[in-house]
Amino acid sequence: MKLPETGWTRDQIFTALAELRAGDLPTEGGAAFAYVYDSGERAASELAAEAYRLFLATNGLDPTAFPSLLRLENEVVGFAVRHLGGGPEAAGSFTSGGTESLMLAVKTAREWAREHRPEITAPEMIVPATAHAALHKAAHYLGVKLVPTAIDPVSFRADVAAIAAAITPNTILLTASAASYAHGVVDPIAEIGQLALQHELLFHVDGCIGGFLLPYFRRLGAKVPAFDLAVPGVTSVSMDFHKYAYAPKGASVIVYRDKALRRHQMYACAGWTGYTVVNPTVQSTKSGGPLAAAWALLRAVGDQGYLDLARRTLEATRAIVGALREIDGLRVLGEPEMSLVAFTGEAPGFPLFALADAMKARGWLIQPQFSGFGSPANLHLTISAGHLAVKDRFLADLRAAVAEVRSAPPDPGLGLLLQAAASLDFSNMSEEAFMQALALAGVQGGRLPEKMATINGLLDALPPAAREAAIVAFVNDLYTHAEAASE
Ligand SMILES: Cc1ncc(COP(=O)(O)O)c(C=O)c1O
Repeated sequence: MKLPETGWTRDQIFTALAELRAGDLPTEGGAAFAYVYDSGERAASELAAEAYRLFLATNGLDPTAFPSLLRLENEVVGFAVRHLGGGPEAAGSFTSGGTESLMLAVKTAREWAREHRPEITAPEMIVPATAHAALHKAAHYLGVKLVPTAIDPVSFRADVAAIAAAITPNTILLTASAASYAHGVVDPIAEIGQLALQHELLFHVDGCIGGFLLPYFRRLGAKVPAFDLAVPGVTSVSMDFHKYAYAPKGASVIVYRDKALRRHQMYACAGWTGYTVVNPTVQSTKSGGPLAAAWALLRAVGDQGYLDLARRTLEATRAIVGALREIDGLRVLGEPEMSLVAFTGEAPGFPLFALADAMKARGWLIQPQFSGFGSPANLHLTISAGHLAVKDRFLADLRAAVAEVRSAPPDPGLGLLLQAAASLDFSNMSEEAFMQALALAGVQGGRLPEKMATINGLLDALPPAAREAAIVAFVNDLYTHAEAASE
């Protein structure tokens, strides 16, 4: 972008922005089954936006300059502690999202081990295959070795025996999900907690997606196992407000068993000429907007309001899961305990990715998840309260899309690509070679094809490391200012 000589008018700005937004995934109306959490309550989103705006310019860097933010954070964390079974000693922090909360859980474990287990020089953390990628990212950023463990291929829960077998003298942290994103099931938290106690290890429960909603599901009569700080052995839990609390993005929390543990999360630096930095979280300068918006929503919706939103989410989920089980050719993976559903084709060769395209053509986003680690390729639905109003239309479209893709001839391009892929050595491929392979699947000039089935089929067939390399090559090409510079 070149700066305009003189500033644009308000009209010009908002016309341009609205045009850009028109090409996006709709964030309201229930079209999205990933990325977006839609309560269906417009007034609540507007209230949150207003609170966000009021605090937009505040800076959480220094809570003594903005005592309002300190107060709001203590109140929001106080709610989280209560919601997640923390005792009077529990302490936490408001963060920008699930990834930051998980990053902090790992950072805390690393510093805790440096103090309490100084003999460990190559720390390890144990991560079941269904745990969120953000834990891998945290291990990568923080230099902790990630030890992956197997899952049960029927229930898709973490395998406790595999975790026990993976513990070594270098282990500093156990992790598990409540619930897992991909299949929406809760790991055996109580049993893993026992392992943590026996081996005197820290144990983080990733409740980013489930922490807020699961206690409401339990109150509505759903069978939800204990997963929070009240479970012996659990030392920290993360929970995102920007998921099932429907807060604007940038809102999560991590809570610890006690303040002594949280202290390891802090970072301070007096080793330069400027102000002394003390950061409880990863960010330093941070807008108070997301915090104020989350606080405002919690207050405005209230406990009964969230119970009602949970009821709508549960009803939509039960209707969708029930219908998926009735559709000939589809199979639900595991027994979803939350509002996250993965389904696959009954028979091998079912055109799953073509089904995602056929649904996209009908206006719905459902998310492909690739095969591996004991899970077959599948399609994922994140269901929220706003889906209750559209579930019948969604299911009618899904039935029609299944009929359509089952009667379509198989994709000849994919067969050829897979044959070609089988002869390649992905461990040794240059970025250019990956881009050429992607171009064969229709990806060119940073643009994805309208129909993604072929490219998804290819990605699904690749080993995970090659999948990562191919997507990195694509994204590295995607973010380019060349086109924008010509304006
Ligand atoms: C279980 C779980 N953990 C962590 C995350 C990462 O959260 P974020 O995208 O807010 O960084 C997600 C996101 O869906 C999740 O479902």
